[in-house]
Amino acid sequence: MTDSHDDFRTIWLSPDDDGVVRIIDQRKLPHVYAEHDLHRWSEGVEAIADMYVRGAPLIGATAAWSLYLAARHGAYPRQEVEMAAESLLESRPTAVNLRWAVERVLAVAGSVDDASLAPRLRDEAEAICNEDVEISLGIGRSGLELIRAIAAEKEGPVNVLTHCNAGALATINWGTATAPVYLAHAEGIDVHVWVDETRPRNQGSQLTAWELGQRGVPHTLIVDNAGGHLMQHGRVDIVITGTDRTTRTGDVANKIGTYLKALAAHDNGVPFYVALPSTTIDWQCRDGLAGIPIEERDPREVSQIYGELDGGTVVVNTTAPGTPISNYAFDVTPARLVTGLITERGVCSASEEGLLGLFPERAAA
Ligand code: MRU
Repeated sequence: MTDSHDDFRTIWLSPDDDGVVRIIDQRKLPHVYAEHDLHRWSEGVEAIADMYVRGAPLIGATAAWSLYLAARHGAYPRQEVEMAAESLLESRPTAVNLRWAVERVLAVAGSVDDASLAPRLRDEAEAICNEDVEISLGIGRSGLELIRAIAAEKEGPVNVLTHCNAGALATINWGTATAPVYLAHAEGIDVHVWVDETRPRNQGSQLTAWELGQRGVPHTLIVDNAGGHLMQHGRVDIVITGTDRTTRTGDVANKIGTYLKALAAHDNGVPFYVALPSTTIDWQCRDGLAGIPIEERDPREVSQIYGELDGGTVVVNTTAPGTPISNYAFDVTPARLVTGLITERGVCSASEEGLLGLFPERAAA
């Protein structure tokens, strides 16, 4: 990530073997940067479910590449693609990019003959990744205007608070919530990021802090409960988070704890923005609380903490054996608490009118 941010990718086809898709094993960051090879679609399902890869856009891209791998394997590649699609759709329920990517690739599969199946699915997976980079840059340009406006009004750094990792690691490059920050930093704006730790999996401390550090962006790690305190003391100028699914009406599902940040921002008059690629909008869903499935994950994510000690990996238990645990991975922030949505086509209000203003082709859906 240090050499050229432009060339960074979170998933790519091996240049030496077109039967191998490479990913970064994000479970090992920030202590070890390790790449991991996917040879079969089932390994793609495992990579999504076990969070080698995570973040809505990257989950979708991994699904697309997994379908390509399915098309290369077995005597009956079409059946293999269908089986893979079914299994991928069950791997993580909240991010709608998964369904979007699977449906897009299946549509291509349905329109080509057997001989072209694998090459066409490969092209489609590449296209999804390339488009995602352009979309992230579009979000970056839209959000940059907001940061510029704050910088013009104040002395000292623009303090951005973010939750989880909606960074380059969650997309193909640049991220969603981080893209405006990266562009602001590149043009010399004094920008500083408060990074929520993001329990239980610590995507903030392990991923966001790492990637901001790699790109030289000033940042400070805070525990999840510190955000409200910082806002009360005027130390947050803007909150920017990502989202796994945005309803047609502007409700947003994102990493657990996002809703509490939105409440604190609302109480303190801090603008709360959500950055999203249009691939994250569920145009069929009007009510986030009723309509967005919230993933519940393994209780061990709560009862255990993973880390590094003296060069080795350690996992420690933090609870008494048998403690009952719930592990909700996402929550829904209602549109009324969202100041605006930052998309690749510009910034809009968190509402159906706002979204349709930017995406009028969806009016009929
Ligand atoms: O459980 P994760 O790590 O997949 O959750 C990721 C998030 O909540 C991100 O904010 C979201 O996917 C947006 S990524 C651009």
